[in-house]
Order: sequence, then structure tokens, then C-alpha cells
Amino acid sequence: MGIDIGKNSFHVVGHIVHNEGSDNLISYRQHGDRRGRQHGGGRPYLTKTVCGSALHLLRPAAIAPALRRRHMVGSTPETCKMLALATQVARASPSAIEQAKSILAAGGLVAFPTETVYGLGADASNDSAVAKLYAAKERPHFNPLIAHVADLAAARRLAQFDVEALKLAEAFWPGPLTLVLPKLRGCPVGQLATSGLDTIAVRVPNHPVARDILAAFGKPVVAPSANRSGQVSPTSAEHVQADLAGRIDFIVDGGASPVGLESTILASIGHTALLRPGAIPRATVEHFLGHAVAATADDAAGGERRPVAPGMLVSHYAPCATLRMNAVTVAPGEALLAFGPTLPQSAGNARMILNLSGRGDLVEAAANLFNYLRELDGAGVDSIAVMPVPGEGLGEAINDRLQHAAAPRAQTARPSRTS
Ligand code: TXA
Ligand code: MG
Repeated sequence: MGIDIGKNSFHVVGHIVHNEGSDNLISYRQHGDRRGRQHGGGRPYLTKTVCGSALHLLRPAAIAPALRRRHMVGSTPETCKMLALATQVARASPSAIEQAKSILAAGGLVAFPTETVYGLGADASNDSAVAKLYAAKERPHFNPLIAHVADLAAARRLAQFDVEALKLAEAFWPGPLTLVLPKLRGCPVGQLATSGLDTIAVRVPNHPVARDILAAFGKPVVAPSANRSGQVSPTSAEHVQADLAGRIDFIVDGGASPVGLESTILASIGHTALLRPGAIPRATVEHFLGHAVAATADDAAGGERRPVAPGMLVSHYAPCATLRMNAVTVAPGEALLAFGPTLPQSAGNARMILNLSGRGDLVEAAANLFNYLRELDGAGVDSIAVMPVPGEGLGEAINDRLQHAAAPRAQTARPSRTS
């Protein structure tokens, strides 16, 4: 069977490689890259296998963005070895949770849903598992990871909480809040995971699958968003497959991540500072604390200190297409990422239109954001016109992600944002 994606034709061949009596279990393997380099010769193709009688093909829309990426398949021995992995996918179930636990314990990589986005998990105390994770994501080692734990008691074994940090944790956990705190002496999370910093980012997610995995594993799990570094964050198992199939061991499919935006990151070290706008609006935090929070640790320190969120200075979430922000017109052939009930007059020029929220609801827009960016990018347009999105509430985080996606790619003066 062949799938035509632009100039390239990719073969999709299905066969059963693994069956543990579950018809949810899927494995598939990627071979070769879009330029035709092939590990083992022949034309590039994707193989997807499904246990059970039905053969499911990867949707071309899901394959296209992955294949159009610049680093579809690296040529390093490390990457070739990773591509030898058959990535299994299972719907969330008690046996999938057990399997996730065993793979994590053996130093493997497991993608799982959280309420914000899908995370790529590894045992935080196992440096070689963490190194594999960085390699699978092609993530620069200097960008530290968030340690995910099951509850506040587990978090307090990793980090030092002052009074305000404790108040925040008690109010917002489990939930989409990450706290950057002083790392405790004897913290089991390795130096590689925290990039040698003396602080650690900790989060207690509020998603039943993530919670079950963390409770079963019983140890901290580092979990960056389960995308290739610099790409749009994944909000479904299918997104994870498009980015990481062949590079990781297991994907637990728990459906779409309900929030669709990453957690809000607050540094709580003496004072509270916002390091990354996210799923909890800044106003909610400020209302709760009864005072304003500085936008970055830099602001809080009068601009004299280096910011403590290395992944935040920079640009990322980059689709292949260029994003044209605050668009009030649409040029012929552009895609339109709309917001609200009123489209631009020239919307008819658009090759494809997706509306983040026809009723102008920022919560709905957040949940759709990464999914729609991927879909429009998959349509193969050169430019995506993005209508203005208001900046209040979740709009701050939505605009942050859009601006990073719109930033020029080949930045050399500043490091690129790689979370
Ligand atoms: O919602 C989320 O937070 C998702 C889900 C999977 O939990 N995770 C996530 O992780 O977004 P990641 O790795 O894509 O983004 C983590 C961010 C990066 O910008 C990193 O620089 C920052 O957290 N970070 C991690 N540890 C830090 C530390 N000790 N100090 C400052 N920033 C830190
Ligand atoms: Mg990320």
C-alpha cells in the first residue's frame, strides 16, 4: 500500500508482531527517511502493525507533519539504534499501567497522557534512561526536565517548600502547576535530569492515567512534552506516534489531553515568579496569593540575574509553515487559524480554515491549539495566518505558544527554546 505525501510515496505495510491477547496493542516501526535513506535498503516506508484482525493505517495527515520535519531521521548510530525500537501503543487499562511501570523500571521510555499535554516519561533517578530520553527528543542536555510525582508528600522528598510554595501546592495540586524549588540534598532525581542546577521543577499531574502510572511506579518520573524538541507539543497519542514512533518503547493512549496547554511554571524561591505562562492563568495565581507575580525570575531580580527557566528564553513549537500573527486578511493559498465568530473578509482565500473557538472561548481555544497547528501544517501550506487572540486568562499562554511558533527558525544569537 502506498501513501502519497507531496513528492514522496511511503509504503505502509501491516503485520502482527506482538499479541498479548489485547486487541488494543499496536506496534509500528519507522524505516528510512524522506530523502530515501533506508536502513536496510529500498524505498522509504512506514510499517504499522496492529494486533488483532484489523489493519489500521497511519492517517496521512498524521504522517505528513512528521515526514516534513527537518530531522525526520538522524544519521547517528544512536538514532539508528533508537529506530530499531518497535513502539507499542496500548489503550489505558490496568495491564497497560503495569506494562508502563515495568518499562520505566527497566530504564525504558513511556509516553502517557497528562491533563495538559502528553509527557515522555523516564525514571528520573536512572541517568541512562534520562540520557535516552534526551536523545529520543533530540533535546539539548542543558534544558532541565520536570519531575512528576503522585502527591505532595512525594514532592517534599525532592524539594524544599517555603510557606508560599506549600500554599500553592496545596491549592493547585494535583493540577497543571509546576513549581521550581531548591533541590533537596539527597534528592533521588539525577543531575542529568536537572541539568546540574541546584533547583528542581516538580509537578503532580491531575490525569487518572498519569496518576496511576506514578502511583504504580512509586518513584519520580521526568516527563517533558512527548514531542521532538522544538516541535508542537502533543495532545493525543497520535501526535506522539507521528513524532516519536520508533524512538520510544511504549505509548499509553488515554485520549486527548483535556487542557491542551502545558503547565504554568512558577519559581518559588524566596518570592514567586512566573517562568512560563500555562494552563493556570496568572490572574488565578495572583488572586490566590493576594499579590502580583513577576513575569520571570529576571524581572523579580531587577533583570540582574539569569532567568532560571532555560527553556523559556527561546523560540520553539515550530511548525514547518510560517505563522503570520494578528492577521486580519488572508492571502491566497494561506491556511487560516481563526478565533471567534467573525472571520476576515478575505477568509475565502484560505486553503484551509480551522477555528480555535467559534464562540471565542479561550479554554476551548487552548484545548485545540496544538492539534490545529499540526493539522494546518500537515496541509502543506507555506504560511498560516493567525487571527488575534485576546491576551487575558489562558490567552497569555496561547499567545506565548503562538509567538514562539512564529519566531524565526534559524536563530543563532539566542539558544532555541527546546522544551
Ligand atoms: O504540562 C507540562 O508541564 C508538561 C507535561 C508533560 O507535564 N511538561 C512539559 O515539560 O512541558 P517540558 O520539558 O516540555 O518543559 C519544562 C520546562 C522547560 O522550559 C524547562 O526549561 C523548565 O521547565 N524547567 C525544568 N526544570 C527547571 C528548573 N530547575 N529551573 C527552571 N526551569 C526549569
Ligand atoms: Mg515541551
